[in-house]
Amino acid sequence: MELFEKKFHKSMSSKVALLNRITYYIVNRKGKQMRPMFVFLTAKLLNNGEVNERTYRGASVIELIHTASLVHDDVVDESNRRRGFFSVNALWKNKIAVLVGDFLLSKGMLLSVEHDDFDLLKIISTAMREIVEGELVQIEKARRLDITEEVYYEIIRQKTATLIAACCSLGACSVKPDSPDVETFRKFGELIGMAFQIKDDLFDYGEDKIGKPLGIDIKEQKMTLPLIYVLNHCSKKEKKWLINSVKKYNKDKKRVKEVISFVKEQGGLEYAEKVMHSFKEKALILLDAYPESDYKNSLILMVNYVVDRKK
Ligand code: IPE
Ligand code: IPE
Ligand code: MG
Ligand code: MG
Repeated sequence: MELFEKKFHKSMSSKVALLNRITYYIVNRKGKQMRPMFVFLTAKLLNNGEVNERTYRGASVIELIHTASLVHDDVVDESNRRRGFFSVNALWKNKIAVLVGDFLLSKGMLLSVEHDDFDLLKIISTAMREIVEGELVQIEKARRLDITEEVYYEIIRQKTATLIAACCSLGACSVKPDSPDVETFRKFGELIGMAFQIKDDLFDYGEDKIGKPLGIDIKEQKMTLPLIYVLNHCSKKEKKWLINSVKKYNKDKKRVKEVISFVKEQGGLEYAEKVMHSFKEKALILLDAYPESDYKNSLILMVNYVVDRKK
């Protein structure tokens, strides 16, 4: 990861001073870097602990795309905090945040193109398309008060799980192109990604400091699994109150708190946790087919971290 970080930072460089200032700000507030870890551990598991330059480049491209998607996401969500500090849009405004996100995306594509990593670029481009589609479907559908669990799963699969799927399939592809492992690990990453986003949505109902705003989903009228479950399992009267709260009182802090308490009382969080664990278990089963190794054990630790993490 130390070597990765150096390469990652280098991959963002520009001749434009303003861009360098902002990317310097971004790399100094690095996130958990889970995605590159999934790239490396998958590659190592499949290749006796060996990774190559393609693996490093792939990991950098993924983290660039991920970073770009967060810079843009904070504009879309009008969120002013990220990774425990101000978001790019909070400090430099939307205009600059949009352009910085575009810059990071183009740097990611170039890193692949310049080294003829077209097989990896194909994996990444598919993920990029799906992230954007997922974000748009979310805007279109997640505000509908009759959103079903199925639609929610499709949204999180697109906006979040496909990128983690890309991490694992790219890790496999970097060392074993054309092997069936590429598809197995795509599926593995997708299942982890589902658990990962459910965890992220659970944080929104909590009180723990996670470095980004809490309670923002209801404020933005974004229905996530705990609320969807409760909406479908409460009385008519309660449902009416919930719908009214989300529709008309979504910016009223006291009312949002009441909604959060109600969702908790009705077992919404427990239900979401149960679903999250079932995705995680399905992912772990896919690893059974691979022989024991340090890399496999580390990958299992990472999978457990996704559901146990505190931020
Ligand atoms: C946040 O991802 C965006 C989601 C898909 C929920 P991470 O929680 O991995 O973000 P960082 O990189 O660690 O900040
Ligand atoms: C982020 O989704 C997923 C992306 C595609 C960027 P959210 O909006 O739910 O994630 P956070 O909570 O802001 O990180
Ligand atoms: Mg969002
Ligand atoms: Mg957001």
